[in-house]
Amino acid sequence: MSKILVAFATRNGSTREVAGAIAGTLRAADCAVDLRPAREVREPVAGWDLVVLGAPIYSGRWHSDAHRFLRRHRNELANVPVAVFGMGPRSGAEEGWQRSRGQLDRALAKRGWLAPVTIAVFGGVDPPKRRPTERRDLRDWEAIRAWAFGLPALVRSPTRSAPDSRPDRPLLGEPGGVPSDWLGPRET
Ligand SMILES: Cc1cc2nc3c(=O)[nH]c(=O)nc-3n(C[C@H](O)[C@H](O)[C@H](O)COP(=O)(O)O)c2cc1C
Repeated sequence: MSKILVAFATRNGSTREVAGAIAGTLRAADCAVDLRPAREVREPVAGWDLVVLGAPIYSGRWHSDAHRFLRRHRNELANVPVAVFGMGPRSGAEEGWQRSRGQLDRALAKRGWLAPVTIAVFGGVDPPKRRPTERRDLRDWEAIRAWAFGLPALVRSPTRSAPDSRPDRPLLGEPGGVPSDWLGPRET
């Protein structure tokens, strides 16, 4: 059974709900999953077969808890695959999706040592307002679950864990693998 840590950062809760849906999908696929706020993960993460790290983008910056998580666990993450997601555009405009993706890419470029096995951008949610009907919510739960469904194929191989060795699973972009940089769903 694969052991997967789903670590998230959030300000207003929408990313926690997405992380929860991802954890639920993984559990349904018989994975042993721990769902935790990234800031609470202080112990080494070397024992996990995959780490999923998700956080929202605010004013062009990926949530600082996600950055701290990567700094804190840098050494162990050399040998643990990391799947990353960011949130999120709040309008269906293509430009907004590209902007968010660019912001996430720039955040990840600060961790030159990190080579995520997959990167996704999911639609975001407006912060709580007085009238909930005014709240935009671009989360596409089907797409989120579909992304999560592909994650077990990306776990660390039990026999070959060196970062530069070819894993036993399909590589990204190969038949049976998942796209290496899957940009989240767009609204038409
Ligand atoms: C003040 C503010 C600034 C934001 N800036 C960005 C941004 O620069 N890029 C982006 O992709 N999303 C941005 N967002 C959208 C958030 O990432 C989105 O609302 C997300 O769902 C928030 O996650 P949380 O509920 O887990 O805190 C912003 C949202 C707010 C309220």
